[in-house]
Amino acid sequence: MMDAAFAALTSERLVLRRFRPEDLDAFVAYRSDPEIARYQSWEAPYPPGQARQFLRELATIHPDTPGEWFQFAVALRTTDRLIGDCAAHVPADDPRQAEIGFTLAPEHHGHGYATEAVRRLLHYLLIERGKHRVSATCDDRNTRSAAVLERVGMRREGHLLQSTWSKDEWTNDLLYAVLHHEWPRVPDPP
Ligand SMILES: CC(C)(COP(=O)(O)OP(=O)(O)OC[C@H]1O[C@@H](n2cnc3c(N)ncnc32)[C@H](O)[C@@H]1OP(=O)(O)O)[C@@H](O)C(=O)NCCC(=O)NCCS
Repeated sequence: MMDAAFAALTSERLVLRRFRPEDLDAFVAYRSDPEIARYQSWEAPYPPGQARQFLRELATIHPDTPGEWFQFAVALRTTDRLIGDCAAHVPADDPRQAEIGFTLAPEHHGHGYATEAVRRLLHYLLIERGKHRVSATCDDRNTRSAAVLERVGMRREGHLLQSTWSKDEWTNDLLYAVLHHEWPRVPDPP
C-alpha cells in the first residue's frame, strides 16, 4: 500500500498530523504534568531537549514502519494548535498488527477528543493500512483510558496481573483489541 508522503489524517474536529517545531512547548507542558505521566513510560518533568530530539527523529519516519513507534500530533482543525498525541507501533516481527497509545493535554479532557482521535487512528490502521489486528494496553487504574478504548468499540481481552514493571512497582494491565473484519468500513467525515 503506497503512502510514502504521509502528511495528515482528518476527522470531524481534529487533524492527526506530523509534529512541527512550534508544537514543542505544548508537548513538553503536558508530558511534564505528573497526572498525565502517571501511567505512561516517561517521567515528569519531561526535558525539552529530550522532546526536541524525539520530535526530530519522528520527522523522517513513516507511521507504518515495522519496529517503530510513530507519534501523531493531535490538533484542533479550527486552530491547528496541538492538544495531544496518539501513537502507533507496528511490530518488527509481524507488521500486519499494530498497537496504539494516546495522550491529551489536561485542559482538553472531557470533550471526546481522545475518542475521536483513536477512532480515526483505528480507521487508518485497519482500513487504510490493512492491519489485521490493533491492540492497546493500559494500567487497570487508568479508568479514563479504558473508557476511551471501550467507547471506540475495542474488546477487553485480558486483565494481565503484575505484567509490567513501571515506576518502581508491578502493575496490572488491561488488554484491548479489534480485528480488521470487525471495524466499520464507513469512513470518518473529512
Ligand atoms: C486517556 C485520556 C486521553 C482520556 O481523556 P478523556 O478526556 O477522558 O477522553 P475523551 O477526550 O475521549 O473525552 C471523553 C469525555 O468527554 C465526554 N464527551 C463530550 N463530548 C464527547 C463526544 N463528542 N464524544 C465522546 N465523548 C464526549 C465524554 O462523556 C467523556 O466524559 P466523562 O469523562 O465525564 O465520561 C486522558 O485521561 C489522558 O491524557 N490521560 C493521560 C495519558 C494516558 O494515560 N493515556 C493512556 C495511556 S494507555
